[in-house]
Amino acid sequence: MRKILIVGNWKMHLNASQASLLVHRLHERIMIHRDIEVVLAPPMLTLQPLSVQIDRRKFRLAAQNAYFADEGPFTGEVSFTMLRELVHYVIVGHSERRRVFGEDLDMIRDKVAAAVRNEITPILCVGETKHERQSGETKQVLHDQLMTALHNLTAREVREIVVAYEPVWAVSNGTDWRNHEIAKPDQVAETVNYIRSYVRDVFGPKAASGLRVLYGGSTSPDFVHSFLDIDGVDGFLVGGASLNYHSFASIVTQSYDWQRQKGAVT
Ligand code: PGA
Repeated sequence: MRKILIVGNWKMHLNASQASLLVHRLHERIMIHRDIEVVLAPPMLTLQPLSVQIDRRKFRLAAQNAYFADEGPFTGEVSFTMLRELVHYVIVGHSERRRVFGEDLDMIRDKVAAAVRNEITPILCVGETKHERQSGETKQVLHDQLMTALHNLTAREVREIVVAYEPVWAVSNGTDWRNHEIAKPDQVAETVNYIRSYVRDVFGPKAASGLRVLYGGSTSPDFVHSFLDIDGVDGFLVGGASLNYHSFASIVTQSYDWQRQKGAVT
């Protein structure tokens, strides 16, 4: 059975002391759940202190980005190699990196490969813009993103990675997530199904059944049950709501309740 995975993407928010306080608050509210994995993705600067602070039975760390070369003349960058002792996961191909920092399909492919090479699990973000959805291009866009990003991987490697379906039009600006447009369950069902069937066609059934697929885009505690009810959704990549300890802890607790109701907790 695939473990539920909840990732808090703090983006470019919180300095070291604010980050430490948030972890402290989350620690008070989140229990140890063997069947739920909770991952925090703070800004790069705070990964080191948080790696000392976190209770590893409750939390794991993710970086929000890294560069694919192991070392070299790349001013301002941090490599996967440098992060490998510190994090379990790295977010790759977030729509903000694609849009604001011009990361293209090839760069994302190289980053996914570098993550796997360094034994860090990539959380590969894929998703269409509003315009692409309205023009009926959603599946083509996902196809192209998946095809390039997974290009260098074996079926066994694909089985271990995480894909986050984040429709770009559903991603909040960090403060408006409560009122922001969110994908409808049938849209998520269709897309998540497409992602898994792509992986099944190219890498086989074992890879498709092992791969975890998350939903991301204005996630709030209100939607946890209805989204986990969607066949093939294994958790959430949470932006805005992950900065609020009540909301993020509630997303974790509700995921646990959902699992208990399903009788899936051992
Ligand atoms: P959001 O962000 O939950 O604020 O929409 C999700 C993300 O960008 O990872």
